[in-house]
This record gives sequence, C-alpha cells and structure tokens, in this order.
Amino acid sequence: MKVLIEFAHPALQKSRVNKLLISAAAETEGITVNDLYENYPDFHIDVPKEQQMLLDHDVIIFQHPFYWYSCPALLKEWQDLVLEHGFAYGSTGNALRGKIMFSVISTGGNKASYQSGGHNQHEIKSLLLPFSQTAHLCGMTYLAPFLVQGTHSLSTKTDIPEYGKQYRKLLELILQDKLDLEKATTIEELNSII
Ligand SMILES: Cc1cc2nc3c(=O)[nH]c(=O)nc-3n(C[C@H](O)[C@H](O)[C@H](O)COP(=O)(O)O)c2cc1C
Repeated sequence: MKVLIEFAHPALQKSRVNKLLISAAAETEGITVNDLYENYPDFHIDVPKEQQMLLDHDVIIFQHPFYWYSCPALLKEWQDLVLEHGFAYGSTGNALRGKIMFSVISTGGNKASYQSGGHNQHEIKSLLLPFSQTAHLCGMTYLAPFLVQGTHSLSTKTDIPEYGKQYRKLLELILQDKLDLEKATTIEELNSII
C-alpha cells in the first residue's frame, strides 16, 4: 500500500495537534506527506502534478484541523481543481477507482459536543458527508475518520504524543495491508480498531 497524506494547516507554527501528528507520519517509512500550505502558499495548485501523485498512491488521507465544520480553504481549492471531470469522475474519469480515502481530523469541540443535542448538534460522520460522498462518486472506499477531539484541553506532554503513537500504528497497519477494511468502513472512528 502506498499512502499519501494531503495535509492542510494554514498556521502550522501555532499548531499543537497536527504539527505533532504530521511529524509522526513523516517519520513512518513509506508515507508521502504533501503539505499543501507549504507547497502552494499562493493557492496556485499544479493540477497535473497533484493528479500524478494521486495516481501513484493507493490510500489518500486528508489531514487537517476542522475549520467551520469542514477543511481549511486550500484543501477545498485542491479538491475543486484536482478532482476534475474526466479524471476523478464522469464517464471516463476513473483514475481514483478502487483507492482508499479517509480523514484525519482534529476538532476543538469534544466528542460529547458532536452528537444530537450537543453543542455542535451533529455527529462528525454527518458533517463529513461531503468527503464521504466525494469518495463514493470517485469510486473510492471511504473509511471512518481518525479523530483527535477536545484539542484545547489535551496535554502537549502526554495526550497529544499518545495520539501521535496511535496514528503511526494506524499508518503501519495500512502499509502492511493489515487493516480490516470492512470493519474500518462501518465503525464510527478508526481510533477504535488500533
Ligand atoms: C478558523 C477556525 C475554525 C474552527 N472551526 C472549528 C469547528 O468548526 N469545529 C471545531 O470543533 N473546532 C473548530 N476550530 C478549532 C480547531 O479545530 C482546533 O483549534 C484545531 O483542531 C487544533 O489543532 P492544531 O493544534 O493542529 O491547530 C476552529 C479553529 C479555527 C482557527
């Protein structure tokens, strides 16, 4: 399995969670990290290069902080330009068919806030529908997300490094083709099968 992380964080210097997670991922052999804000600070995305990167990998991960119940703007721009008709979808657009996609997301809100009656009213799964449906339209298998929630009360010394270890473990399972894909599509979050 060749794994590509499409990473989007517009203020990495201020990040506590994603900074650690992306370094943990980058240290894992066999993982390609595509840091979108580093590569495209002016938002001028090299579409053929990005499409080739997708073709060269089997698993595509979108890693980012949750911003306004979605992704930071550059990742949306990337989706709009790179997942184009005739490449990712449409009668001849089958470049992504059979690949795997999932999200790695940090949220300020805690788990309890993301449920009916909670502060954010909806489950993460519902809020991620644009991502899961994009994957389905492109013929990809969409897995449950890996989540780091309630970020503001997590300790930099203990909690966040623990998530870093879990993330690495998840990536290693995927690289070794040992992740139970059927289970990974039906559970609420990938955290529970690591
Ligand atoms: C512009 C902006 C929008 C945000 N929107 C949300 C949101 O919709 N839901 C949420 O739970 N947290 C939201 N947050 C909090 C971030 O998700 C949180 O600070 C981030 O995941 C922490 O990760 P980091 O340490 O890598 O930056 C938002 C933060 C910012 C700056």
